[in-house]
Amino acid sequence: MKMLTLSHVEKHFGEKQVLRDVSFSVPEHTVFGFVGQNGAGKTTAMKLILGLLPLNSGQITVNGSAVSYGNTDTNRFIGYLPDVPEFYSYMTPAEYLSFCGAITGMPKQEIKKRSHELLSLVGLENESHRIKGFSRGMKQRLGVAQALLNRPRLLICDEPTSALDPAGRKELLDILTAAKKQTTVLFSTHILSDVEHICDELAFLHDGRIVLQGTLKEVRKLRRASDVELEMEHARDAELLLSDFPFLRRQGQNLLFLEEGKALPEILGRIAEEKLPIRRVERMEPTLEDLFMEVIAK
Ligand SMILES: Nc1ncnc2c1ncn2[C@@H]1O[C@H](COP(=O)(O)OP(=O)(O)O)[C@@H](O)[C@H]1O
Ligand SMILES: [Mg+2]
Repeated sequence: MKMLTLSHVEKHFGEKQVLRDVSFSVPEHTVFGFVGQNGAGKTTAMKLILGLLPLNSGQITVNGSAVSYGNTDTNRFIGYLPDVPEFYSYMTPAEYLSFCGAITGMPKQEIKKRSHELLSLVGLENESHRIKGFSRGMKQRLGVAQALLNRPRLLICDEPTSALDPAGRKELLDILTAAKKQTTVLFSTHILSDVEHICDELAFLHDGRIVLQGTLKEVRKLRRASDVELEMEHARDAELLLSDFPFLRRQGQNLLFLEEGKALPEILGRIAEEKLPIRRVERMEPTLEDLFMEVIAK
């Protein structure tokens, strides 16, 4: 079942067209990466999903119900962590969650139980200091806990890792992965390694359009065949191969580079014929970064 679907969504601010025919859907209990550079339109799309902005055409459904602009009913399914979350900084994490639970009418016992579960999920269960002194990472983690308080079916996080250091990012990504058991996660990012680490599926928004989407595996397959590095034991053998196969590129004394692995069997055949000692043959796993650079360059 699809937890979220955008179909043919268009959004402009005055003359400025920000989203053009954006369609994608997010399956239940997955982590979905919404990827794009700054200004691509990620936050705008998230605000449309939350009914905070009107769309110009197209349709959005959350958990099967249509989103309408304004006080949309579908928000009862959603937990949202904005890009710059604000907290009451004089409260402790537990006080903050109790406060948030109370204003949404959660019963006291339920608040207590849920806060305990969530604070341990985000690694803040022993934190009794006020939010005031928290690092950015701690604040983001508390933000995730708050967004999950009402057991949303869809958790939307806007660039939750962007302002964090590598350790903080890793912690947050682990939490989003763990959250997948209880909800569906849509998060935006411009950091491609985040996507490679935790996403089941992704959509890449570029200049207001979805230019790539699918599972990580599908998206990786779209890339041309991977390059191969060939490291010879002796420099003279590298030279020999270069003269036979002029399309090889030399990258060091003994190191050759074969674009897209072209003619690899022939080259290996020649190596076997001459019994040339090899140090290493390696297929270079293409990164998402490479792929996106290719797509953007088109
Ligand atoms: N309220 C607005 N009025 C006019 N332009 C806007 C408004 N909000 C966003 N934009 C423009 O829309 C584009 C996409 O912005 P945004 O959705 O914030 O991108 P992202 O979150 O991917 O960085 C940007 O060019 C931004 O300047
Ligand atoms: Mg944004």
